[in-house]
Amino acid sequence: MTNDQSPMTNLQIFLDIATEAALAAGVILQDFLGKVEDAITEKGRPGDLVTAADKASEKVILEILRRHFPQHSILAEESGKLGNQDNEYLWAIDPLDGTTNYAHQYPCFAVSIGLFINGVPQIGVIYDPFRDELFRAAAGLGATRNRRPIKVSQTAELNKSLLTTGFAYDRRETADNNYAEFCHLTHLTQGVRRGGSAALDLAYVACGRVDAYWERGIAPWDVAAGVILLQEAGGKVTAYDGTTFKIESGRILATNGYIHNSLSQELMQVTPLPDR
Ligand code: IPD
Ligand code: CA
Ligand code: CA
Repeated sequence: MTNDQSPMTNLQIFLDIATEAALAAGVILQDFLGKVEDAITEKGRPGDLVTAADKASEKVILEILRRHFPQHSILAEESGKLGNQDNEYLWAIDPLDGTTNYAHQYPCFAVSIGLFINGVPQIGVIYDPFRDELFRAAAGLGATRNRRPIKVSQTAELNKSLLTTGFAYDRRETADNNYAEFCHLTHLTQGVRRGGSAALDLAYVACGRVDAYWERGIAPWDVAAGVILLQEAGGKVTAYDGTTFKIESGRILATNGYIHNSLSQELMQVTPLPDR
């Protein structure tokens, strides 16, 4: 790709190539669904699975991105850091977000591809091949679901809200495992869902199906695409305390904006449950 095009044209090109990669990966996930029983292994922590589908999906995404952008840096969940890590462009790839669901044929999983430019999320593509739902966003170009614009919900009170969250794979090793926050917010809201795919959690906030998502212990590939998708859909992303979101912290508070302050205040006053 040449650099003599406008920044917006470049973003559109990045978005289109990321879309091509996500759709190709989605075909692989659909093909492997229900056929990976013999190819499921634990990556380290109990319950942290990887399947042949994760690997095949990542392979096709890497092939497409590297063919088009050989200079760019890559951070892929199964392959780690690839390419020149000093490059201003960094692709963060989760080839299968929701592996546990996938291994059980529970239909909540997605491909997630995000692009940071100088550390700032600029492109996000999340594809749910089971429902054929394609979520896309680029900074300044808006957010879409299946090519139609999306917006966050307008729910402004916690007691009218539906939330979503997740529990990282280190949950058995730490009291700071989000169980206390889950109990606390379940009492204050119309419910807290645990879908099992951080990328879809963020996409569902972006399109107004839920009003907020929070989680600790997340990796850059889990949320890179979802952050820009939500911001472009009118939502807000910060740390739990409302300060600037730092991806390396592993903690994210992502809302429709209207319940952001109240949810932040509630999260900040929760203390972990006693160790079991
Ligand atoms: C996981 C999912 C899950 C979240 C975990 C993630 P994976 O990703 O997004 O919803 O709670 O923190 O690690 O392992 O299925 O790609
Ligand atoms: Ca993930
Ligand atoms: Ca994954």
